[in-house]
Amino acid sequence: MSSEPRRVAVFGAGYIGLVTGACLAELGHQVVLRDVQPEKIRLLRVGEVPIFEPGLGDLLASNKERLSFTLDAAEAIRDAEVVYVCVDTPPTASGDADLSRVWAVIDTLKTVSSDRLAVLVMKSTVPVGTGDRVRAALDDAGLAHVGYAANPEFTSEGNAVSTFLHPDRVVIGAADDESARLVTALHEGVDGPVAVMDVADAEMVKLASNALLATKITFINEIATVCEATGADVETVARAIGMDPRLGPHFLKAGLGYGGSCFPKDSRALRAMASNTGHPFQLLSTVIEVNELQPRRAIQRLKNELGTLKGRRIALLGMTFKAGTDDMREAPSTIVASRLLAEGAEIRCWDPLARSVEVEPWTSTIRLASPVEAMAEADAAIVVTEWPQLKDLDWAEARKVMRNPLIFDGRNLLDPKRMRNLGFTYMSVGRR
Ligand code: UGA
Repeated sequence: MSSEPRRVAVFGAGYIGLVTGACLAELGHQVVLRDVQPEKIRLLRVGEVPIFEPGLGDLLASNKERLSFTLDAAEAIRDAEVVYVCVDTPPTASGDADLSRVWAVIDTLKTVSSDRLAVLVMKSTVPVGTGDRVRAALDDAGLAHVGYAANPEFTSEGNAVSTFLHPDRVVIGAADDESARLVTALHEGVDGPVAVMDVADAEMVKLASNALLATKITFINEIATVCEATGADVETVARAIGMDPRLGPHFLKAGLGYGGSCFPKDSRALRAMASNTGHPFQLLSTVIEVNELQPRRAIQRLKNELGTLKGRRIALLGMTFKAGTDDMREAPSTIVASRLLAEGAEIRCWDPLARSVEVEPWTSTIRLASPVEAMAEADAAIVVTEWPQLKDLDWAEARKVMRNPLIFDGRNLLDPKRMRNLGFTYMSVGRR
């Protein structure tokens, strides 16, 4: 529990805002969550959770006395000592982050007179320099007494609650000591080290961390391709690489490329930001391009194996960008599906959580009851997402229903020897 409970308004009840709000309430703070979507607020008020995130529902329920939900921005700000900005910053066509929702919060702040408000905290991912611009806007609006801090988020979907409460680090970028002290105190009870720095540094830590993780994944995917051509095994190679503490074992899992709401967007935002300063970030550009090629390469390998994809029935096993989430944003499955459709294949999708699949001009709400159902009469099946249900599947049963027992394991989830013993033609990414 925090030693000094604060009144916190959280703007944006999306994935980050909900987790932030629920966790701050768990730490003992009084939290009001504000969102523009009436349906979201309605659901939250009746105790329902509008997104899938393990542990979040329990946390919201057990802290309900400290949580309230509103559509009214002014009402949210009126009593707040701290305002958290957790709105989304989607990419524009140029890759730059669209900050219009961030500025809408600042505009509301200007119209609500609040003597209590001590600090505005930016959790949304923003370009470096945004803090300076917000600071200037606050000063111009006569809100010089309101401090400013950047407090970027490093939680990942599927284990957001535990990584918020037990993080590797809490990064706080503050322009003034009082804001640094207040935001640090807000995190009392969080089990992890706090790194205090300047605002611009904190803004950069977020973008650089995600870009480096995306680079690591892309690097191992390139190694996997070379392994395929040379007979080495990427899993064995990655394991031994990871034993060097300078390199570390994480994010060395080869597959169909990274997706989600963060890595693709944040790497493009960092590239755009660098380019705006006159520096072409070549390494990052290559990472972005190679990652987009990765699922296409997999489809080409499948095509080579089958001779043609035209008229072939292909089962897609898993559609979300990773296991443990219902999130379809920038999921590699959408590239896989659109390539297959462009080649004239027929696709059947299974996913335990994804609600629908939209691949222009094709939209499907297909949610087959089981992976085996999706594989009925299939000429091939692709493991797109590493759902544990697939690891535990009765593959002998699946083999019986397939027209052609070909598995392309895009996540290196299954045991090659076992799959081949079961009679499958088994392909994976960079493995023997
Ligand atoms: C990511 C970061 O991991 C978080 O630290 C960060 O806070 C978050 O973005 C964010 O910016 O909000 P997330 O997008 O939820 O979290 O998911 P990850 O688990 O990082 O996976 C991202 C993608 O990389 C997935 O498509 C996953 O399948 C892929 N991946 C991950 C690999 O292909 N190989 C790996 O070894 C690891």
